[in-house]
Amino acid sequence: MIFSEEKISRDGKTVYDVACAVCHQNGLAGAPTFGDKSAWGLRVNKSLDELTYSVKNGLRGMPAMGLCMNCSEQELEMAVSYILDSL
Ligand code: HEC
Repeated sequence: MIFSEEKISRDGKTVYDVACAVCHQNGLAGAPTFGDKSAWGLRVNKSLDELTYSVKNGLRGMPAMGLCMNCSEQELEMAVSYILDSL
């Protein structure tokens, strides 16, 4: 079977590097920083679904889709997992 290129989803690190790092690497716009558990505070008590929902729909300083307009929901979820794994 042949799969078209865009159906192969990118892994969490790739999505993070392309779309999320611009804000989350250094805390731009008040974004909680990658790898800094204290910056994430009580957010880590939210479920993966809740966090992914926030990214998909936007949350205050974070635009909808975390600006990854061509991301699938699954890719957003993998990017969230990648961030959570850093904490
Ligand atoms: C334009 C900057 C920006 C980009 C790009 C961005 N974020 Fe965010 N993100 C933020 C800010 C700011 C917050 C804090 C929002 C608040 O609670 O006020 C946030 C919060 C979050 C949260 C916590 C949500 C919650 O419910 O508390 C998650 C998870 C997250 N971002 C993941 C991502 C992922 C994954 C991407 C890439 C697909 C991404 N972000 C891209 C700025 C950004």
